[in-house]
Amino acid sequence: MYVCICHGISDKTITKLAIERSAYDVKTIRQITPLGSQCGKCIRMTKDILQGLKSEAQLPKVS
Ligand code: FES
Repeated sequence: MYVCICHGISDKTITKLAIERSAYDVKTIRQITPLGSQCGKCIRMTKDILQGLKSEAQLPKVS
């Protein structure tokens, strides 16, 4: 699904950047991509995605 329609940036791209480049905040994602540089409507959804990833990372692993 596209998060940033203006620049064609998907949730998969954001997730990949967060995991591979430790970009767990919007500021870092914006340093890597043009996300949010046009209308800015994608910022809130990006924050939600990154917050979800951080929460998942903090969950205890079940073996
Ligand atoms: S949707 Fe991301 S800048 Fe417009």
